[in-house]
Amino acid sequence: MAGIFASFFKKSTSVLGVDIGSSSIKVVQIKKRRGKAVLETYGELALGPYGGVEVGRAVSLPPEKVGEALKDLLREAKTTTTTCGAALPLSSSLITFISVPPVPDKQLADVIALEARKYIPVPLSEVFLDFSVIPKEESYVEDGQAPKDEKLGRDVLVVAIHNEYLNQFQTIMNGGGVQPTFYEIEIFSSIRAVLDQGAATAMIIDMGARSTKLYIVERGILRASHIINKGSQDITLALSKALSISVAEAESLKRSKGLKGGPEYKELTEIITVNLDYIFYEANATLINYQKKYQKNVSKVVLTGGGVLLKGFTDLAKISFQADVKYADPFGKLETPAFLAQEFATAGPEFAVAIGAVLRRLSEVE
Ligand SMILES: Nc1ncnc2c1ncn2[C@@H]1O[C@H](COP(=O)(O)OP(=O)(O)OP(=O)(O)O)[C@@H](O)[C@H]1O
Ligand SMILES: [Mg+2]
Repeated sequence: MAGIFASFFKKSTSVLGVDIGSSSIKVVQIKKRRGKAVLETYGELALGPYGGVEVGRAVSLPPEKVGEALKDLLREAKTTTTTCGAALPLSSSLITFISVPPVPDKQLADVIALEARKYIPVPLSEVFLDFSVIPKEESYVEDGQAPKDEKLGRDVLVVAIHNEYLNQFQTIMNGGGVQPTFYEIEIFSSIRAVLDQGAATAMIIDMGARSTKLYIVERGILRASHIINKGSQDITLALSKALSISVAEAESLKRSKGLKGGPEYKELTEIITVNLDYIFYEANATLINYQKKYQKNVSKVVLTGGGVLLKGFTDLAKISFQADVKYADPFGKLETPAFLAQEFATAGPEFAVAIGAVLRRLSEVE
């Protein structure tokens, strides 16, 4: 499917979004036309084969190898631009919420750096530090107490990324022949891609290969994040073991039947259900904990990541959460050819991060 639109739009100002996941790379290229973001091309490439493991599995590769894979994907997807926005994995960063005393704006960065030192286990000279002040009415409420008084200062979201990790990422981008104009943690890309502005409090679930990430977002602002160390590859590995089949066979069975195999695939259904129940239990605990702590109702759960493409996943999620469960539709934020509507509706969750990154990149060229 990748690359089919590229030839029609070669002369336009196009922008690229890149998501380097633990199991695969995703890219999306769009351009602005009549005020709309038009999809030009997109594509995905599994990293497993570059490291001698099966498709669908997480793999640790040297950055040069990942760069090579990125280059292959860009060629295959026939992308036509090299400047991009790139998403960094949550695992590469440290995210924390801190309170800072009331100080004039020009001192804020220094005060935050001072405060952040308490939470960051390495010297600050070794990290890239970014922060955003949480708007007053949204202010982080510690321990469910009444909102803080202005005089008590401000609450700030702090993100730290180790310089060494950024250097590795730069090597990947160089290898792919692209120049990022920004890096952002994948959380912020996902939020942009799957939530509407002013939306009610929501939990985004990103089920990847290695882990399942949970983000709680209030009116577009990240309020909490949590990682469950179980992802979709764990379902494949459990299936391979229990059914005595190869990992590749287990992966293909998982994808082709999912939870919809019927009575003939009872064992398959059971194994998948047990694994998903564990994840839903943990996600529910995070959700309920947040609701209790901040007295806020989390009314929506949005499903993203390749793992949620599993057939029957949404149905099981719907009975597992007391919230409105929605299968993410990030392609819905783009103009796409109508005849491929079904394809985009299905693949959406996998491309949420790449689409979020490209949407931010698009706003840079306006
Ligand atoms: N149709 C499908 N049915 C079931 N599982 C699927 C399907 N398509 C992909 N997956 C699973 O989704 C996982 C990959 O998801 P995704 O691409 O979001 O992960 P990633 O971004 O590489 O990983 P992470 O975010 O953890 O770093 C793989 O484990 C794969 O087996
Ligand atoms: Mg991912």
